[in-house]
Amino acid sequence: MQNALSYSHQLLKEVLQPGDLAVDATMGNGHDTLFLAQLVGRTGHVYACDLQEQAIQNTKKRLEEAGLLSRATLLLTGHETLDQYLPEKELKGAIFNLGYLPQSDKAIITQPETTLLAIQLLLDRLSRKGRVVIVCYYGHSGGLAEMEQVRQFCKQLSQKEYAVLNYQFINQQNQPPLLFCIEKK
Ligand SMILES: C[S@@+](CC[C@H](N)C(=O)[O-])C[C@H]1O[C@@H](n2cnc3c(N)ncnc32)[C@H](O)[C@@H]1O
Repeated sequence: MQNALSYSHQLLKEVLQPGDLAVDATMGNGHDTLFLAQLVGRTGHVYACDLQEQAIQNTKKRLEEAGLLSRATLLLTGHETLDQYLPEKELKGAIFNLGYLPQSDKAIITQPETTLLAIQLLLDRLSRKGRVVIVCYYGHSGGLAEMEQVRQFCKQLSQKEYAVLNYQFINQQNQPPLLFCIEKK
């Protein structure tokens, strides 16, 4: 069985095609930005954002080394402001990795209010069969409350409009990340 991180990639790989628009809402060190840039191909594009300059630098380096920098726009901004930057085109896939950036300032964590605003604005732009994947790390202070708010948000989404998956190992210690995937019907 795959862990939440690798399953998040599988869920996006199933829907993203060359030419698509994708979003990495929590850029961090750019692992997901690179993955999305590979999937959208030369004709697609990825918008990635983070609050930390370090994230931009690390992701820029990663994409440059892979020769894929031109496929991504790296934004030093909160995901709750993405509406100001995204093009008119429909969104096919987006990913959030909630929590803090490993080996960095643990005080800079995603916050439930802005996380939910960002999920909603991305859902408003999502195409049919498009997916928003949210990986929740919740071992840190504030993480559990954020994860519960994301769960409540996901649960109240209309069954007519969305299919929502929760993927989680229920017999593991040390709070392994869990995943929500919202697909527009
Ligand atoms: C768990 S890390 C992401 C790891 C990343 N996916 C990677 O591949 O390295 C969470 C990131 O979210 C960022 N973050 C926190 N609040 C944010 C916000 N409002 N908008 C965008 N990014 C935010 C943090 O700075 C941190 O880099």
